[in-house]
Amino acid sequence: MPLEHAPTSQNTPASVPPSVFTLPHTAQLEALYTIIRDKTTSRGDFLFYSDRIIRLLVEEGLNHLPVVPKTVETPTGVTYEGVGFEGHICGVSILRAGEAMEAGLREVCRSVRIGKILIQRDEETAQPKLFYSKLPQDIAHRYVLLLDPMLATGGSAIKAVEVLMEHGVPEDRIIFINLISSPEGLKTFSAKYPALRVITGWIDQGLNEKAYIVPGLGDFGERRYCE
Ligand code: URA
Repeated sequence: MPLEHAPTSQNTPASVPPSVFTLPHTAQLEALYTIIRDKTTSRGDFLFYSDRIIRLLVEEGLNHLPVVPKTVETPTGVTYEGVGFEGHICGVSILRAGEAMEAGLREVCRSVRIGKILIQRDEETAQPKLFYSKLPQDIAHRYVLLLDPMLATGGSAIKAVEVLMEHGVPEDRIIFINLISSPEGLKTFSAKYPALRVITGWIDQGLNEKAYIVPGLGDFGERRYCE
């Protein structure tokens, strides 16, 4: 039987859907976000500090995985009643920005399998369309950490979950991890997938007319990959 777990993330205020968890807003976390939001931050610093936040988010995502009792013997010859993870996990990044989160996942989960999904806007229908996916063969039997740094309208994330569910992954085995969310995107996404947990670092004010998150940090891919 899986044990109850106590994630450190919070899901207040009341306006936030119950499946959404934010990192504790410590002064340190706010300082990290202030650096990556600042338009004068160099690419090197953006990389370094966004990686620090990604690491915190991935660790928090792992706190939401179930554990089972596990007993080990320590070198002192004494038995220790501990726990072990219940199931296997994998990561799936939504290309291209989600790729930036893969290293953070690998740092904490050695030799973790990572799949990829590429979704782009269909020029004819203006709807998000699947262009490419490569997923672990046994993904239906794994917990999936879905990676995308910015949840704006929620369109790509919804499509990505559709793809995962078509591959047999139950909704409640997916944990979506992102750095910044818009309230609109969160509402749409969580209404569609109420059993899917979202771990977000920060919920911002909203979207502008170009569907960028504000205050946000601009285009994540551009900030990360372009000088
Ligand atoms: N993607 C980004 O990179 N930034 C946004 O603000 C929204 C989507």
